Amino acid sequence: MKIVMLGAPGAGKGTQAKKIAAEYNIPHISTGDIFRANIKNGTELGKRAKAYMDEGKLVPDSLTLELIMDRFAEPDCASGYVLDGFPRTIAQAEALAKSLADKGDKLDFAIDVDVPDEKIVTRMSGRRACAACGGTFHIKYNPTKVEGICDLCGGELMIRDDDKPETVQKRLSVYHEQTQPLIDFYNNAGILMTVDGTQDVDVVFNSIMQILK
Ligand code: AP5
Ligand code: MG
Repeated sequence: MKIVMLGAPGAGKGTQAKKIAAEYNIPHISTGDIFRANIKNGTELGKRAKAYMDEGKLVPDSLTLELIMDRFAEPDCASGYVLDGFPRTIAQAEALAKSLADKGDKLDFAIDVDVPDEKIVTRMSGRRACAACGGTFHIKYNPTKVEGICDLCGGELMIRDDDKPETVQKRLSVYHEQTQPLIDFYNNAGILMTVDGTQDVDVVFNSIMQILK
């Protein structure tokens, strides 16, 4: 199963992608998580990506494609994956389609988690992320059992650097300009499915399961 998650920043792509990955036993590949891990580890890639991310801009396609193509070459991708945050531009979507077509392969579904902009800023302001395992929670909508501690690994929760309201606004406008056109792209490819992302996390997940099954 090869799935792409679409949706605005904060729509719940990561939250749903983790659940899908667990259900189908396939890797969850988030380019945002990979960039953040590189920033944390002080790598050259991390240093180059950080400047763009802190401003809410996209990391250049060349850098992103190099990173993701290396990731696809790893053995755990053989049985499929759920992509979260990639592709994010038409150029990235075309590069992905070509690399799959070269192997006689294709994507199965692109799932758009649809949430209006008004709801996004509230979601982001309450998001808490685990620096150790990438687990994502929300102080109101998806709270941890112990405040500030990850339910999954016991790690410490933190607020993402790019979740400041002004950066969220910039990320939203970048999304509308550069990523939203992918909805038409995948609709034209006949694999677009849309779910209402304003519902509870488990309701959204059930809607996705209906589509995948
Ligand atoms: P990335 O990490 O991908 O960020 P994003 O797309 O902005 O998305 P988020 O991770 O913020 O949101 P999400 O949809 O995963 O929502 P979540 O599940 O956390 O990218 C970060 C940056 O990296 C980019 O800005 C760019 O610079 C760079 N980058 C990454 N990929 C790139 C690429 N391919 N090309 C170029 N640059 C790239 O949920 C949000 C919150 O809401 C959480 O608190 C969650 O608990 C809560 N929540 C989730 N679902 C629900 C629900 N149904 N009801 C209530 N609350 C909910
Ligand atoms: Mg995410």
